[in-house]
Amino acid sequence: MINIAVLGYGTVGSGVVEVIETNKGMVDKKATHKLNVKYILDLRDFPGDPYESKVVHDFNVILNDDSVNIVCETMGGVGAAYQFTKQALEKGKSVCTSNKELVAKHGPELLEIAREHDCNYLFEASVGGGIPIIRPLNYSLTAERIDAITGILNGTTNYILSKMEREGADFADVLKEAQEKGYAERNPEADVEGHDACRKIAILSSLMLGKNVNSEKIFTEGITKITAADFVYAKEAGYTVKLLARAKRLNDDETLAMVAPFLIPKDHPLAMVNDVFNAVFVTGNMLGDSMYYGRGAGKLPTASAVVSDVVDCARHQGKVITCFWDKEDAKLADIGEIEKTYFVRAKISVRQKVEEAFPGGKALTVGRSEDFGYFTGAMKEKEFMAKYEALGEDVLSRIRLI
Ligand code: HSE
Repeated sequence: MINIAVLGYGTVGSGVVEVIETNKGMVDKKATHKLNVKYILDLRDFPGDPYESKVVHDFNVILNDDSVNIVCETMGGVGAAYQFTKQALEKGKSVCTSNKELVAKHGPELLEIAREHDCNYLFEASVGGGIPIIRPLNYSLTAERIDAITGILNGTTNYILSKMEREGADFADVLKEAQEKGYAERNPEADVEGHDACRKIAILSSLMLGKNVNSEKIFTEGITKITAADFVYAKEAGYTVKLLARAKRLNDDETLAMVAPFLIPKDHPLAMVNDVFNAVFVTGNMLGDSMYYGRGAGKLPTASAVVSDVVDCARHQGKVITCFWDKEDAKLADIGEIEKTYFVRAKISVRQKVEEAFPGGKALTVGRSEDFGYFTGAMKEKEFMAKYEALGEDVLSRIRLI
């Protein structure tokens, strides 16, 4: 029998218990051991809950119980979750987590501690919720040099952008409605400013490179400036707007990593990923493109991924599952030097100024009297931004093309 402790009995933690209970016989068979939830750590009590008797408030009860083999860290944050994870691994207990913030910040250190203590730190649920993406990168695509990963990695922003496109609504209205329905957090900053997607692409790109991609060094821009008007132009030109998290090898030692809204052609596979769904588009040098799609958030999808890690740990008791993610920092490219084309929306009154600033581009009109659209030619980001900012307030928005 394998004893499990669940840290945090919130949405994902209670989902972990539910998945193990619902799929009991099947999961036990796949784990090659009977899985038993022995403890649930939470500050609260849960009177009337079927697992009420398993609830403990002191982590030391779990830490000092040698019969606990696997810990599921579903607390979130980088404070207590970090300390508990470290302590559990140092005791040789494997840890399975959905905590993307912790994995992005301390992944290589925690993996090293796990290796030194013949146990595992697994984090399938930290990116893409229930979508298998960590295991494909670690196991299935090991014959590949992964050259690029592009993902829709945040369900909240994808829901907002999908609704803005479908209903012609503005960002603030859709956000408010998403909050009222409980889809978006009360404090939605980490989602709408791109920080959540940034942590997730930091994890994926670290696995892609085998080196550490520091999330704080990833260029990150959110979706708060995207308007309903931008979607009108995007549609006319055959595009949609998606918040993409991208990592791309530029050469042997430099990688581009960024999170930003992009215009992508309507026939791109990622353009078809709508609402709260996530997808990860991976380009390997042998396989070419492959895409992983599914529910990127939510109780049971995320819990399913945590439990898949529990099964993996159970199958590999006493053995270390190889994961290439060194502490050495990967070299990230200066985004200012990267060439792209840009969509610009500006007041009609400055059309001539825009065309002079970005010669060789192409104007786009959609029958609106207040503004017009313009696609620049390819140019370096730093040159584009200098010219864009110099145009002043009559230039209303800009979006990069994929
Ligand atoms: N806030 C995240 C999202 C939850 O909207 O995708 C899953 O990581």
